[in-house]
Amino acid sequence: MNEFWESVYKSNEIMWGEQPADNARTVLELMQKNNIISILIPGFGYGRNAKVFYDKGIEVTGIEISKTAIARARKYFGSNVIIHHGSVTAMPFDKIQYQSIYCYSLIHLLNKAQRIKLIDACYSQLMQNGIMVFVALSINDKRFGLGEEIEKNTFHSPQGLNLYFYDAASIKGEFSPYNMIEAKEINEPQEDPTEKHWMVVCVK
Ligand SMILES: C[S@@+](CC[C@H](N)C(=O)[O-])C[C@H]1O[C@@H](n2cnc3c(N)ncnc32)[C@H](O)[C@@H]1O
Repeated sequence: MNEFWESVYKSNEIMWGEQPADNARTVLELMQKNNIISILIPGFGYGRNAKVFYDKGIEVTGIEISKTAIARARKYFGSNVIIHHGSVTAMPFDKIQYQSIYCYSLIHLLNKAQRIKLIDACYSQLMQNGIMVFVALSINDKRFGLGEEIEKNTFHSPQGLNLYFYDAASIKGEFSPYNMIEAKEINEPQEDPTEKHWMVVCVK
């Protein structure tokens, strides 16, 4: 996993551009409505989504497996943001309880045991009344079915990644033990109806 992402970032200056995902703005609104002042972002990348929160004065912490992505993120944040280097499978990286957690487009890269461990580790690092938001691939996304199916709803993509695609039952199965209050399918980006994700919100 580590080598895969290192080579991706080394060959692409800014993979997904400088703009945040549309969903990051939606999540910012949710966080602001709930007076959130701290956020943990597992799968931080080079920080394009983190910047949305950072620019509004929310204290941001990241976890990221690629050193190259972390080095790139320093362009936005200097040394003002702690970004733990390592795999989310090794969480927790600190003893802090966060008011919120935002995990965008990471969990579907993991196998079932790792996904459940990630959700559990995130919930453990949430303060009481804290909010966690996960965005993950849906079976209705255009990439579903591409490549060899190595487990039910997990495909080895042409790019060389194992991608897990959630359906309503697996969303419920994996997130409802963590006080899931909302799960909806979204287009991400918003204007592209072929790219379907789930947005899942849990409150502690
Ligand atoms: C699809 S990208 C999304 C990046 C970022 N959330 C964004 O949208 O700009 C997944 C990110 O998670 C990182 N990643 C993949 N597996 C990881 C793991 N096990 N632990 C921590 N980070 C991981 C990758 O290096 C990459 O930056």
